[in-house]
Amino acid sequence: MQVVILDSPEAVAEYGAQIFIRQLKKQPHSVLGLATGSTPVALYQKLIDANQKNEISFRDVTTYNLDEYLGLEGDHPQSYRHFMNQQLFDHIDIDKTRTYVPPGSASNPIQACDEYEQMIAASGGINIQLLGIGRNGHIGFNEPSSGLLSRTRVKTLTQETIDDNARFFSEDEYQPHLSITMGIGTILDSQQVVLLATGSSKADAIYRAVEGPMSASCPASALQMHQNAVIVIDEAAAANLEHREFYKHIERENQKLLAQLGN
Ligand code: PGA
Repeated sequence: MQVVILDSPEAVAEYGAQIFIRQLKKQPHSVLGLATGSTPVALYQKLIDANQKNEISFRDVTTYNLDEYLGLEGDHPQSYRHFMNQQLFDHIDIDKTRTYVPPGSASNPIQACDEYEQMIAASGGINIQLLGIGRNGHIGFNEPSSGLLSRTRVKTLTQETIDDNARFFSEDEYQPHLSITMGIGTILDSQQVVLLATGSSKADAIYRAVEGPMSASCPASALQMHQNAVIVIDEAAAANLEHREFYKHIERENQKLLAQLGN
């Protein structure tokens, strides 16, 4: 795992955005795995800016989102499809028919999960998967106890996640307790994984993901098995890491090496 510790949430968004910008310049037909939540919003804004300045194009890009609430139609204001349209897709030159979000309103959700896996495979797999992390260590809606090699499936949300997300729903609005989510195995199949986290509320989850034992009780710890996982965090989210200084030293050495290679 590459752990990158930066001064501010703004620097985290910039570092993450540059990974995506480099990918799209290198491979305009990229397949991107995308995430919802508050953390990726600033990164999406940077991708929108880069697209509007013609630095990158999404014309040939295909996207797969991590998860969706089960029982919400895509035009529901709390659906993740709606979130993605608002935060990214409506502002870039992407062909929306190639932006996929698990179908929360599928009549047969179990079959829809298998189909989602097949679609990702038919697209050639995901080049870069963006992730946030829950306070309980979840990635996507893979809550603690999720199988570390699980695939896209229906998952029950923990009360902690329901409470964390309640801020987006009005009091009398139906808040789903079930979701469709890519599995941890699905995520691990991506060529590269970029996990962003900011703020002290994420410090414990980041500690357990990076320095804890690999365990289904912290789903993000499965990334310890990934060949190319980058964990981009601010100082507040890094606060509990024992080897903080070492990660900073590694990053300085990496940057020196890249500079020597002219990158
Ligand atoms: P957040 O959610 O970015 O809103 O904190 C992250 C997550 O639950 O994956």
